[in-house]
Amino acid sequence: MSRKKHWEQFYSDKSPLDVSWFQQQPTISLALINSLKLPKQAAIIDVGGGASVLVDHLLTEGYHNLAVLDISAQALAHSQSRLGKQAEQVEWFADDITTFKPSRKFDLWHDRAVFHFLTDATDRKHYVANLKSALVPKGHVVIATFAMGGPTKCSNLDIVQYDEAKMCAELGNEFVLRDVHHELHITPANKEQSFIYFHLQKK
Ligand SMILES: C[S@@+](CC[C@H](N)C(=O)[O-])C[C@H]1O[C@@H](n2cnc3c(N)ncnc32)[C@H](O)[C@@H]1O
Repeated sequence: MSRKKHWEQFYSDKSPLDVSWFQQQPTISLALINSLKLPKQAAIIDVGGGASVLVDHLLTEGYHNLAVLDISAQALAHSQSRLGKQAEQVEWFADDITTFKPSRKFDLWHDRAVFHFLTDATDRKHYVANLKSALVPKGHVVIATFAMGGPTKCSNLDIVQYDEAKMCAELGNEFVLRDVHHELHITPANKEQSFIYFHLQKK
């Protein structure tokens, strides 16, 4: 099954409230983003944002130059209908991040639990090339993945676990690691999942 088909089917079969990665409050992402003290007009993209409520929280906090990208149009439709009229303030991309051609630059790239699905080195290379071309100089990246010792699969797909050394090796020497946070995420089915959040900055 193609990647897109897998995710479209996933979001058609399941309520976004029941997916294992669901968070009512994206606490660490918000704390990391707010710690950057970006102006409210900063261009922020949530890559693989799915039906996450991060965009709702960012709008509430006054950020108004927001984009959400996901391979699943169905996932984005969930967010758009939840946001109602406010959805018009956000740019939506139904796209695969490995083939996406960014038409503008961003100050911050956020990705929670997307990069770790790229088990193929060529896909990771394309992701990193897109990240580099989409980010302004000194731009920020927040990537969250499963940590070493955490789950080995998500939504029946294999994933790659990361630690600091592995993430820095993937992103290359154009990025400086600024901060790392660990999270024990509790899924709606009450299971523990070990996540790691990386904040990096483009040189
Ligand atoms: C585990 S979910 C995380 C969703 C969201 N970031 C969150 O934290 O709630 C992974 C998301 O990545 C999307 N996705 C998977 N592969 C992708 C790709 N190659 N390009 C863009 N989105 C992708 C899926 O559709 C799904 O919404």
